Amino acid sequence: MKVEAARRIRGIADTPGDKSISHRALLISALAEGTSEISGHSHGEDVVRTKIIMQQLGATITGDSTLTVRGTRKGLSPSDGTLYCGNSGTTMRLLMGLLGGIAGEHLLDGDSSLRQRPMDRVATPLALMGVATYGQGIEQTAPLRICTPGKLEAINYSVPVPSAQVKSALLFAALHAEGVTTISESVRTRTNTEDMLAIAGVEISISNSTKGRSISLTPSRPASHRWAVPQDPSQAAFFLIAGVIHPDAEITVRDVYAAQERTGFLNVLQRMGAAIDVERHGDVFSATSRSSSLTGTTISSSEVPSVDEVPILTVAAAAAAGTTTFLDMAELRIKESNRFQGSIELARSLGATVDVDGDSFTVTGTGSSQNFQLITGGEAGDHRMTMATAIAGWCGQGAEIQHSDSVLSSFPGFFQLLSSLTE
Ligand code: S3P
Repeated sequence: MKVEAARRIRGIADTPGDKSISHRALLISALAEGTSEISGHSHGEDVVRTKIIMQQLGATITGDSTLTVRGTRKGLSPSDGTLYCGNSGTTMRLLMGLLGGIAGEHLLDGDSSLRQRPMDRVATPLALMGVATYGQGIEQTAPLRICTPGKLEAINYSVPVPSAQVKSALLFAALHAEGVTTISESVRTRTNTEDMLAIAGVEISISNSTKGRSISLTPSRPASHRWAVPQDPSQAAFFLIAGVIHPDAEITVRDVYAAQERTGFLNVLQRMGAAIDVERHGDVFSATSRSSSLTGTTISSSEVPSVDEVPILTVAAAAAAGTTTFLDMAELRIKESNRFQGSIELARSLGATVDVDGDSFTVTGTGSSQNFQLITGGEAGDHRMTMATAIAGWCGQGAEIQHSDSVLSSFPGFFQLLSSLTE
């Protein structure tokens, strides 16, 4: 697919419902007895995978723009078929935990990208709770067979990697443990699972300290609820950054989920000199970004936990004057693709210089997106690398996008939105 360089960009960028919240709304509603509703959710393939798997496990789900989810009185039960998670790491990891409460044997699989991602980070603590996972090799990659005894042991576990997916998997498993489970993390990752389980009536206590956060959960069945999903900040980031780096642009996003673990990229951009007006209303924000001259900064991974925004921040760094250093980015290597390598290659192909030092890298920018090169890129099985490449071409000198289908996993209308904002 060809993305032409835009001469002028204006408009409102409505992005999909938050992916993290959409997955969790489906899981919690399927676990609950009674009828739940979910509106504003993501229609990307990742969330569709979660929906189909919840149906395979016994939930009844109908509707499209609003989903109606009916859990069963006796709870979920094993499926005869394989639970196919597609490209979605969140589906597979959260499911591994949720299956801890469904006695029996479960088969899980994913696409070629997901089959390369480590599942031992979830399987190891789940084994302490009594769940046996049989995967491939030392990293326990998919396909996976999971054997669940029914009742699990409560644990007190400190998650060794900064990962909301691991934390969430253990909290879902803890719903079925005998006793209170406590999970600690040293980097404060997104809180959707603990927040949403608490809204669904589960007894959760959270304590934040200088050392991070710990969450204790007392087992119970979540109650049904009406979930309204706000827009996804990690998707809004692509458009806010386009608005900043393009020389004649103004882009507005609205009703975007505003949790601090997800909006670190806004602070980074403001430090770089970006003209972004942000208005917060409760749990959501609206923002307008305008053409700006950026200067380099230093970004540590804990400022953007889960590092989802790093590929597009690398594009901002390539448009900035001076150097931007990305510190401690090891987790980038094990996302849907090796985004550490991919982000560096993208910045270099745009004309920036990149120096690598272990898990960190420094981008010396070109000073303006108008100095970018025409690029060819995009990544099979990695929506965020593909969207970052497309935005760089749209704001710079154009791009030839390979694997444009990869955006379907999180943002089916992405290329249409680019066209509609181009004047
Ligand atoms: C997610 C957690 C993050 C993030 C992913 C969604 C979640 O992964 O990259 O896009 O919904 O919990 P990690 O838990 O591996 O950091």
